[in-house]
Amino acid sequence: MSKDTLTVTDNRTGKTYEIPIQNDTINAIDLRKIKVASEDFGMMTYDPAYMNTAACKSTITYIDGDKGILEYRGYPIEQLAEQSSYLEVAYLLIYGELPNAERLKWWEYRISRHNFIHQNLIDLIQAFRYDAHPMGILISSVSAMSTLFPEAKEVDDPAVREKQIWRMLGMIPTVAAFAYRHRIGRPFNFPDNSLSYTANLLYMMDFMNQRDYEVNPVLAKALDVLFILHADHEQNCSTATMRGVGSSRVDPYCSLSAAAAALYGPLHGGANEAVLRMLQHIGNVKHVPDFIDRVKKGEGRLMGFGHRVYKNYDPRAKIIRKVAYEVFEATESNPLLEIAVELERIALQDEYFIARKLYPNVDFYSGLIYQALRFPIEYFPFLFAIPRASGWLAQWQEMLEDDEQKIMRPRQIYLGEARRDYVPLDQRS
Ligand code: ACO
Repeated sequence: MSKDTLTVTDNRTGKTYEIPIQNDTINAIDLRKIKVASEDFGMMTYDPAYMNTAACKSTITYIDGDKGILEYRGYPIEQLAEQSSYLEVAYLLIYGELPNAERLKWWEYRISRHNFIHQNLIDLIQAFRYDAHPMGILISSVSAMSTLFPEAKEVDDPAVREKQIWRMLGMIPTVAAFAYRHRIGRPFNFPDNSLSYTANLLYMMDFMNQRDYEVNPVLAKALDVLFILHADHEQNCSTATMRGVGSSRVDPYCSLSAAAAALYGPLHGGANEAVLRMLQHIGNVKHVPDFIDRVKKGEGRLMGFGHRVYKNYDPRAKIIRKVAYEVFEATESNPLLEIAVELERIALQDEYFIARKLYPNVDFYSGLIYQALRFPIEYFPFLFAIPRASGWLAQWQEMLEDDEQKIMRPRQIYLGEARRDYVPLDQRS
């Protein structure tokens, strides 16, 4: 009869241990009883970069990387992208269920009530140099919010937590728009609550007092779909940072600021920016084969390809490809699209990429859409951070409510010098 246990024999001692299996996983702490001598610390697992370690149990996002499946709270990403709105998805992530009509109205109202930012934050944004990277402004502004809302420290109080969630989801788009306007040297546009979440963002960035100004609904809808696709992605680098920093019970502004810093890196949320720079560098379709050859020789990476979890086409990339064509119909077509399509075509047939299961990820096309919406390149990671804030906050809340979680504190294998005595400066060679 099968048993849900793992039997391990330690060949150093000949002893056998039986370790319970739950959800196809063993508890790493159960390995600690494996010792040679009773005073030993006990066995650990070594897993740099968490390649095979589950750090939490979660009910938020499900990914099957081999099959290319992504679901939020059980709902397939394709259905949400087709039928939902970003704010509805944010509600789903945070509260666990889709809202009914009344709750959705309430939620949209709660978020829009919190989209004006404190004058201190406006002064902070204006203190940056005109060419400051927008992610630097985001990271600083969100951590500065921690000083404006000291009650946010009460992270164990659900009502306090909820309020900070409304505030952050409300204020981050305003910071984004103001950072942009600062960069282009134009006065700020304050939020217009008659508009949807994404239409308001576009309005705050674009509006120049035109009499007949209207946000293009196709572009607002495209941005909304991109926001849905970026809202959560289980335990990625920035989410793990949000949980890790939050596990010290610091306020959520500090945690989210750290998560945004993690997202900024070129291997994570900075990849959409890197894709655009790569396409510009390639410059022409006829240079694509050359570029692919250089990547295969290890002289750089094909940005927007490959994923730690997806070893199949990223389901978000499929949806984004379609959105890209819709946006290009409403705007000028982007000459870099031709290069991207050719790169994808060649890479998907090439043994190097096939053998390593490297497929386009969410960032391969998103940068082209952002560019068509006329966002500057260095602005792209910010457009990833705005929707990801809902995922970070949902994960942060889940971590705080999980009795099995404690302050995050990995172990190490110490391989440095053995104990030795201090040598005074004048006796060192
Ligand atoms: N181009 C060329 N080769 C690649 C690429 C790529 N984009 N990605 C991985 N490889 C190769 C590696 O060189 C390695 O080859 P080897 O076995 O011959 O040494 C093999 O594929 C495995 O790569 P790893 O780096 O071990 O894979 P890992 O899971 O650690 O990396 C990552 C995942 C960081 C996303 C990687 O694929 C990458 O750098 N991609 C480009 C950056 C990018 O698009 N990031 C966005 C990710 S999506 C997101 O964060 C929203």
